[in-house]
Amino acid sequence: MTRIVVLTGAGISAESGVPTFRDAGGLWEGHRIEDVATPEGFERDPDTVHRFYDARRRAVANVIPNAAHRALARLESGIGPELLVVTQNVDDLHERAGSSNVLHMHGELRRALCTWCGARPAWEDDLADRPPCPECGERMLRPDVVWFGEMPYHLDRIEQAVVSCEVFASIGTSGAVYPAAGYVALAAAFGARTVELNLEPSDAIVPFDDARAGAATELVPAWVNEVLAGS
Ligand code: OAD
Repeated sequence: MTRIVVLTGAGISAESGVPTFRDAGGLWEGHRIEDVATPEGFERDPDTVHRFYDARRRAVANVIPNAAHRALARLESGIGPELLVVTQNVDDLHERAGSSNVLHMHGELRRALCTWCGARPAWEDDLADRPPCPECGERMLRPDVVWFGEMPYHLDRIEQAVVSCEVFASIGTSGAVYPAAGYVALAAAFGARTVELNLEPSDAIVPFDDARAGAATELVPAWVNEVLAGS
């Protein structure tokens, strides 16, 4: 049974060197979302979209998890499957830090999606040169990331965990993109204690019970220590 749900966003990976989306110098700066993060943009200009995600996949391969990712892995070592990490991030830094109970609601950069047969193979290389799908052989692979207008993954499992958890913690996310942005209100409505660990207070739709401002690499290890001391 899930006791603690942690929702993470780009801010948790920022100190590993992965750019966030909406901060100055963020990923969306210099890119129109409709060009690189919608099915229509991909249909219009697949080369540009492939190049964008190929570059991100390579960049993520060259960074390492930070103290915040490691602290969440330590929390999982302490309380096991009572912790569920729901991440909006498409990097794999939670897994590389040692977390295993992780749901990627916006997909994963290091996975491809075959638009012909639906396979979702693990993927390390570029997609721009149109490699064949390892399952069906068609050259119809796209990044396995959720674009605007598409349905995020694992919604049923996430909602079930959010309505039944005791603690809901939001880390490094601006609260700008739904459905993730709505989970704090859902968790609060079902009686969870809500905590925010973010560089600055986010645009959350309901106030958190406990909102802490600062860098994830400092706030998350300290919070994990508190949780482990109390459990
Ligand atoms: P954003 O870029 O919208 O927000 C990042 C948040 O992290 C901001 O609130 C920052 O203040 C905070 N932040 C930055 N550095 C931090 C640090 N060192 N420690 C703690 N917090 C820090 O990123 P997300 O909220 O993840 O979706 O964006 C949500 C979704 O919007 C993404 O998953 C992506 C994007 O469009 C899709 O691509 C579908």
